[in-house]
Amino acid sequence: MKHVRDPQRPHERALDPARLPRHIAIIMDGNGRWAKKRGLPRAMGHRAGTEAVRAIIRSCDRLGIEALSIYAFSTENWKRSTEEVGVLMGLLLSYFRSEIDELDANDVCIRILGDIDGLPRAQRDAVLAAMDRTRHNAGLKLNIAINYGGRDELRRAMRALAEDVRRGTLDPGAIDEAMIDSKLDTRDLPDVDLLIRTSGEMRVSNFLLWQIAYAEFVVTDTLWPDFDDVALCKAIAEYQTRDRRFGGRPETALTR
Ligand code: IPE
Ligand code: IPE
Ligand code: MG
Repeated sequence: MKHVRDPQRPHERALDPARLPRHIAIIMDGNGRWAKKRGLPRAMGHRAGTEAVRAIIRSCDRLGIEALSIYAFSTENWKRSTEEVGVLMGLLLSYFRSEIDELDANDVCIRILGDIDGLPRAQRDAVLAAMDRTRHNAGLKLNIAINYGGRDELRRAMRALAEDVRRGTLDPGAIDEAMIDSKLDTRDLPDVDLLIRTSGEMRVSNFLLWQIAYAEFVVTDTLWPDFDDVALCKAIAEYQTRDRRFGGRPETALTR
């Protein structure tokens, strides 16, 4: 919690450092509407969105958040025009090229959530290199969901379990929740505590379906390119007012 008491950032100082979410997930939505409002092409909205990504990563790092998972491209986003998919893939590549040095220097550990094999060659190489380079970093765990779908992740996990059964190394009766967890892209990460969606949409759009079982939801009308450290702290402050019960009685509801 490097700067929680930084007088320059009263919104960060106002948070209770003992009750920060361990894992924040963000559905970064509204780039297209942000551009439309300004009479700009959608590509400009996506470009502005990458600036917001930079700011939010820095803010989570300052706050000492353990894990941040951001939804960059879903398994359904391939349905968009070839032009828009091309813009998004191009931005991904330039993002990794331009940010990797700073992220690595700040001890950020990068993990890709999603089916990496389904990415174009250049993007696949870039994300694998970023993961490899930062794999021993002990700072913020930054998970970037690309070609990610919650159902697709579960499908891949089920297939991996079935393979173990076929090989004779796994008894189906022994499959428990921890074992399913261990086959997910998010293995070894805590469950999501706080799920934020920008641009006002009240839906999950196939993000981290298993991991959000007891997440607190905060939906803001702010469009993703306008989402900044103040907006993030507002969402965390809202989270800190929530009474998390995990299905138990309030007095027993400390952790899952
Ligand atoms: C989010 O912005 C970025 C991606 C889904 C890749 P959108 O492109 O969905 O923006 P809107 O929802 O059309 O405003
Ligand atoms: C969800 O946003 C995916 C990402 C933010 C990457 P979408 O804009 O694709 O979701 P829908 O279509 O509004 O549900
Ligand atoms: Mg959208």
